Amino acid sequence: MSPVKSQPVTAKLTKAAIFLVMTLKPGAEHDSTVRGLCADLSSLSRGVGFRNVNGRLSCVMGFGSDAWDRLFGQQRPVELHPFREIRGVHHAVATPGDLLFHIRATQMDLCFEMAAAILDRIRDVVTIVDEVHGFKYFDERDLLGFVDGTENPVDQDATDAVIIGDEDPAFAGASYVITQKYLHDLRAWNALPVEYQEGVIGRKKLSNIEFADKAKPAYAHNVLTNIVEDGKQLQIVRDNMPFGEFGKGEFGTYFIGYARSPRRIERMLENMFVGQPPGNYDRLLDVSRAVTGTLFFVPTVTFLDNVFELSKGF
Ligand code: HEM
Repeated sequence: MSPVKSQPVTAKLTKAAIFLVMTLKPGAEHDSTVRGLCADLSSLSRGVGFRNVNGRLSCVMGFGSDAWDRLFGQQRPVELHPFREIRGVHHAVATPGDLLFHIRATQMDLCFEMAAAILDRIRDVVTIVDEVHGFKYFDERDLLGFVDGTENPVDQDATDAVIIGDEDPAFAGASYVITQKYLHDLRAWNALPVEYQEGVIGRKKLSNIEFADKAKPAYAHNVLTNIVEDGKQLQIVRDNMPFGEFGKGEFGTYFIGYARSPRRIERMLENMFVGQPPGNYDRLLDVSRAVTGTLFFVPTVTFLDNVFELSKGF
């Protein structure tokens, strides 16, 4: 059998993205609408993407825990479960989400066209519960003004961080993803001295240079999200995007993190929200409120392409 093909979870960071989170309407699992989209997703992506090959269109489709059971039956990925809320110094909410589409391209028209093609197929059986159109802000900065994404693993390191291997052989080649939409209190953040902001992130704001380990406060974001097991750093691949709407007064960061196990992202979240040790929490959260929280499984392209055949035995 030919090796499985993974979804483009490690696609390079792009200038534009659309994040769509949907729930399935009652009975959506009883007809073939969603499974039909799964089977045709590669073809839709080729059709839209080929109109501008330099636009690097990619689309990742994920499934929430309940949706997996409803659509594909019994055999389940070992670590798939609903997002677990965290009540610590700050609150990481869990919100509904059956399907995730993470659409990326160098320009928004491709993302928009892909979202339209997807909805054309499944509009009648889903409800969109969250939609974010993200953009890149100056030199890869988030709206807090810091360069975001620097320490992401690349190439083989990225693959090793996000693609399931022997730990779940039936789902090798797949991945997990956690998303959270954060709203920032930009007025409060911008009123803080830059030196304090730099301590919160653990890097210099203008130059993006990382602080030496001993110069980082214990609560620095890059201390609390550094998870080490058996002397090895457990990495994830992030593709955060700024978004904002002046009319609503909403400005934020859409956090999206891929990993071969959701556990490592959950540990980062516990460190951020509860603190490590408890109470030593992430000060980013004093000015950033998580308003969504969802966990999805990202099956392989091989699974999606052959979904009718492969999910029969499940
Ligand atoms: C308000 C939302 C967030 C903002 C604005 C934010 C911003 C940043 C920035 C500016 C950096 C430093 C540059 C870089 O390496 O990317 C960073 C690093 C990082 N963030 Fe976040 N982040 C947010 C949420 C999260 C969450 C929820 C997680 C994980 C659950 C996370 C995990 C990480 C990791 C693993 C690093 C790399 C740390 C290192 O190894 O140096 N971030 N983040």
